[in-house]
Amino acid sequence: MSTFWSAWVMFLVVFNLGITLFLFLWGQRVRIPLQPDGTTGHVWAHGTIREAVRKLPAWWVWVSASMFVAGIGYLILYPGFGASKGVLGWTSGGELARDVASNDAKLAPMMERLRSQPVEKLASDGEVIDFGHRLFLDNCAGCHGRQAHGNPLLGAPNLGSGGWMYGGTGDDLLASILDGRRGQMPPFSATFDEATVKNIANYVLSLSGAQHDAKMAAEGQPQFAVCSACHGADGTGNVALGAPNLTDAIWVHGGDEETIEATIKHGRSGVMPSWRPRLGEERSRAVAAWVFANAQGEASAQK
Ligand code: HEC
Ligand code: HEC
Repeated sequence: MSTFWSAWVMFLVVFNLGITLFLFLWGQRVRIPLQPDGTTGHVWAHGTIREAVRKLPAWWVWVSASMFVAGIGYLILYPGFGASKGVLGWTSGGELARDVASNDAKLAPMMERLRSQPVEKLASDGEVIDFGHRLFLDNCAGCHGRQAHGNPLLGAPNLGSGGWMYGGTGDDLLASILDGRRGQMPPFSATFDEATVKNIANYVLSLSGAQHDAKMAAEGQPQFAVCSACHGADGTGNVALGAPNLTDAIWVHGGDEETIEATIKHGRSGVMPSWRPRLGEERSRAVAAWVFANAQGEASAQK
């Protein structure tokens, strides 16, 4: 605060306190001349009401007086009087720093476990799971859904299906979260004509035993050689490339014929952001532990 504004605020405080203090003290002493009937002589409402004089109740006077003392005491102890910092040296930033420090102290033992234990072990640590779940809801649910069931419109996979694009060990999950992922499925509309795309789509459907046209699938099979570079000759995928398993009936983008044809023609490129800058190592491990525990829970619920 510049000297001018500091002085201006001080002036306003002194001026306002001064006026109210003056009225307060003067009000106790002022003598209002009375008429013989004990009223001030003012009449209201066509003479039906006459104005009397009553002393202020003592409790009111004391409460008001103590307000002045409290107000001035506050301005001495805390910031408020111009640029004065107050004798206690209190700041809102200082209070925040104290709260953060006390919270950090409370979290310290869990942070130690997060640094030293593998994700698989953390997944059975109740405190870590609660913490990870909250981080998931705040940071991940927007794309993967509150139940982690994914969102085909965003290409965000279901994290409870067990059909991992990039692998489901603790280290795989941690790598996905810390550094992000960017799958690249190239478009094939320039390579294949419409009929060939349909044939390949029917072959893809046949891989997971979904309903398909057997004749078209048989014609599509040889063309799948191009696809097997990434999805494997048997179509079971490749976690190193994030090429999904096409034989397990678990779909990121959708497993109906139309969607598979769209995937083949236009390609797909899902982007999982990197969380290292935002969550850091420990918090990423906590959320990985929750994802791991959640996927195990869903797997055992299906048995
Ligand atoms: C902006 C949307 C978005 C957000 C937010 C997001 N993800 Fe993802 N995530 C994706 C997409 C899209 C993919 C698939 C990437 C690909 O296609 O290569 C993915 C992939 C993953 C994978 C790999 C899954 C597999 O099958 O191998 C994991 C694990 C994952 N996300 C966890 C998380 C966690 C934990 C968070 C929160 C810290 C998070 N994601 C936040 C969009 C998102
Ligand atoms: C260069 C490697 C590569 C090639 C070649 C490739 N794919 Fe893919 N494919 C991927 C990747 C990576 C993804 C995941 C894309 C994403 O969501 O980020 C994918 C996704 C898909 C999906 C979506 C799966 C789902 O769960 O929704 C289908 C279907 C698919 N590919 C079929 C094919 C077919 C058919 C071919 C051959 C015509 C092919 N792919 C060729 C890498 C490849």
